[in-house]
Amino acid sequence: MSVPSRDTLPTESGETVLITGVRVYGEGEPTNVLIDGDTIAAIGPDVVAPDTDTEVVDGTGQVLLPGFVDLHTHLREPGREDTETIESGSAAAALGGYTAVFAMANTSPVADSVVVTDHVWRRGQEVGLVDVHPVGAVTVGLAGEQLAEMGTMAAGVGRVRMFSDDGHCVADPLVMRRALEYARSLDVLIAQHAEEPRLTVGAVAHEGPTAARLGLTGWPRAAEESIVARDALLARDAGARVHVCHASTAGTVEILRWARAQGIAITAEVTPHHLLLDDSRLETYDAVNRVNPPLRERSDVEALRTALADGTLDCVATDHAPHAEQDKCCEFSVARPGMLGLETALSIVVDTMVRPGVLDWRGVARVMSERPAEIARLDDQGRPIEVGEVANLTLVDPDTEWTVVSGDLASIAHNSPYDAMTLPARVTTTVLRGRVTVRDGAVAPRQATVGER
Ligand code: DOR
Ligand code: ZN
Repeated sequence: MSVPSRDTLPTESGETVLITGVRVYGEGEPTNVLIDGDTIAAIGPDVVAPDTDTEVVDGTGQVLLPGFVDLHTHLREPGREDTETIESGSAAAALGGYTAVFAMANTSPVADSVVVTDHVWRRGQEVGLVDVHPVGAVTVGLAGEQLAEMGTMAAGVGRVRMFSDDGHCVADPLVMRRALEYARSLDVLIAQHAEEPRLTVGAVAHEGPTAARLGLTGWPRAAEESIVARDALLARDAGARVHVCHASTAGTVEILRWARAQGIAITAEVTPHHLLLDDSRLETYDAVNRVNPPLRERSDVEALRTALADGTLDCVATDHAPHAEQDKCCEFSVARPGMLGLETALSIVVDTMVRPGVLDWRGVARVMSERPAEIARLDDQGRPIEVGEVANLTLVDPDTEWTVVSGDLASIAHNSPYDAMTLPARVTTTVLRGRVTVRDGAVAPRQATVGER
């Protein structure tokens, strides 16, 4: 099978960008970084703009990191463009410091065919703000029964490298086993939404004292943990890699530690909301706090932070999940699960991990860029900030604070749980293959090229 060309659309090559006064990984003395075309051309305090056309970005006081990679985002195109499109979601991603995102398959139609996955990739390239990698469905229609044509999707222009039924669990152990065996031969990754459906019928909140008091049907930790343990064993036997979406419990962390100690190729992500929020948020019955898996207890939050710091949890992934007002501003039990996350992720990681001193900026680069790029096998993302590397970069102002106004975010939907919260740190600039996609905290207009007006 020949591998089709998947060249990214050209950026305005030949242009130069100079970022001045930055601390690379937040370390050492301030320096300047020169980008020529799509490549980092020089780094040093004496590096200057080669000509007057060079775009200069003043990075004084700021931290330079590799562009962020989100393994888990919902962009709702095709099907629910009233809540998010590849264009609006790409803008949200770029504003959040991302240079690559993985768009989940639970669209309408489902991304279970190469027609859909290729469309997602191509549309992302057309928009040009971030690489939008399509995630293919594991099973046809996310129904959990028949394997989707993973090989065809992997061989398409969108070169699908991650498959997931996210939103649904691949619950049948035999289907999951076959998916893992197939994934091994294709060298692709299965990302599992770990939720044993027989244990979560009607569940809307974490099973515990809060849900009991509020009269909400509970989602037990064991529904997640039992699938994580099962999948670790299935991955071991298949010799395949498996990735755990949105780990949410202390028990999942323990199982991951055990599985890693056995040499099983299991990786895991945690969302910003599970690092910050707990089920005390449910007291108001505001459905903005409904999410799958649910917000857990403080002890789980603490365990997740510790596991992210020590590497048991590999990375942060947003599970950015836009929903329309009518699906959120309603009774808790009928609201759709999910919350926005792309534009606030870095600030939540700073609030929960950097400010408390458990993660430094190198650690932020690891969990938001390097590990996700490694897990997804992206060779041009999560790279060291060094001369000769592709310039996928994020510039962060570590000292600022900002107040979230959910209506002002780039997403079409407004379901941010952080509305009116004041958060630390903000992405000021994002660079995708040498092109400045975000400048001064706003999406930078594309410079006109020949043929464009
Ligand atoms: O809260 C969630 N929302 N969890 C999921 O697994 C799916 C997602 C969505 O698609 O809205
Ligand atoms: Zn999920």
